[in-house]
Amino acid sequence: MSKPYKYGVYGVGRIGKVHAAIVQEQGHQVVALGDDARAAVAAAQEELNVGGVKTFTDPAQMAREMAEEMDAVIIASHTRNHARDALPFVEAKIPIYLEKPLTDDLQESFAFVEAIGRDPRLLQIGLQRRYDPALLYTRQLLQSGLVGEIREIRCILRDQYPPPSTYSSRGLVIDMGIHVADEAIFLTGEFPNEVWASVHSTRGYVSPIDEGGDTAFVTFTTPSGVLGRLDLSRTHSSGYNNETYIIGTKGTIHTGRFAGYPGAIPVEVWLSNGKLHPDSRTFEMTYLEGKYPEFLPRFDVAYRLAHQQFRADLEIGAAFAVTQNEVLDTQVFVEAAHRSAQNAGVRCRVQRSDDLEVYKAACLANGLI
Ligand SMILES: NC(=O)c1ccc[n+]([C@@H]2O[C@H](COP(=O)([O-])OP(=O)(O)OC[C@H]3O[C@@H](n4cnc5c(N)ncnc54)[C@H](O)[C@@H]3O)[C@@H](O)[C@H]2O)c1
Repeated sequence: MSKPYKYGVYGVGRIGKVHAAIVQEQGHQVVALGDDARAAVAAAQEELNVGGVKTFTDPAQMAREMAEEMDAVIIASHTRNHARDALPFVEAKIPIYLEKPLTDDLQESFAFVEAIGRDPRLLQIGLQRRYDPALLYTRQLLQSGLVGEIREIRCILRDQYPPPSTYSSRGLVIDMGIHVADEAIFLTGEFPNEVWASVHSTRGYVSPIDEGGDTAFVTFTTPSGVLGRLDLSRTHSSGYNNETYIIGTKGTIHTGRFAGYPGAIPVEVWLSNGKLHPDSRTFEMTYLEGKYPEFLPRFDVAYRLAHQQFRADLEIGAAFAVTQNEVLDTQVFVEAAHRSAQNAGVRCRVQRSDDLEVYKAACLANGLI
């Protein structure tokens, strides 16, 4: 292991505590905790067994006072506060592991990227699918050409339960969609050119928060002609469900066929003769004891690898694999889907550019800002 890190954590609800516990288990120290809600800090101090650490309710104060005492900060506060909470740490030159997205408002996200710039060594975004072994293997299989060119990709993310009452979400597509929007970009290597969506309320779903619906279907196309679909819901009554189904010109790949929760994560490659290819493999979820957030068994390994990679990249000054730049793309994608769903499923054009001004102008022209 590299040197032991001293971490601060700002935002200590469900996932903030998961991240803190992971870095502790990886042999690092949590030296400061913060949250706008004092009760959340108190609960985290007890759960993480860090009663004596410095605590904060203001990220700017935490960045100022802890700049010399912290090697990195994890930010997992309310989505709407991410940019506000991250900025003082960027200014204090403290590397950040920032939960997705940059904020829930696209214009504010562009302003944040304008303020911090495009340097991919400032912050790593918590889009953990990019570190997930089953999805990395899927990408490797795709790149090997085994199933030919992608005709169609379908990425499924279905929670079993509604979010907690403390959770803030600007809408189901914006909140959940970002994970699989990023997965689709990561696996196809393409940004979409057209996106349309619908959001639905299915029977028997009761949630403490209003996200506009419990189920969404997002359809998209890419410049090379891939047809894509994101299926989102909070209603998968037999367990948390993440599947990726890719139809290529020479075969199909099915990753994460539901096999119990927690359970196996099969990566199945089916060839045109109808047979399973021997490169098919099975990954495993983590089998946990006691109480845990529902997404943890499926992504525990990915979160751990993401934190390891964060420190490894820091040590050599390398670019992080997923940064403000990649998450901005996923935010544009889901903003288009969200607006389409609000507008009777109208098809939204999307365009990206490395030039931030041009990118923002395209979003304005496409009605996303
Ligand atoms: N990458 C992932 O897989 C993943 C998973 C979950 C959440 N997230 C992201 O992480 C961020 C935080 O999400 P979360 O699931 O931790 O939300 P959460 O509702 O558990 O926590 C969010 C905030 O609610 C308040 N809160 C939570 N528990 C509290 C308590 N016991 N007492 C008082 N206040 C309390 C705190 O201010 C806390 O920062 C969001 O931006 C979300 O999008 C990412």
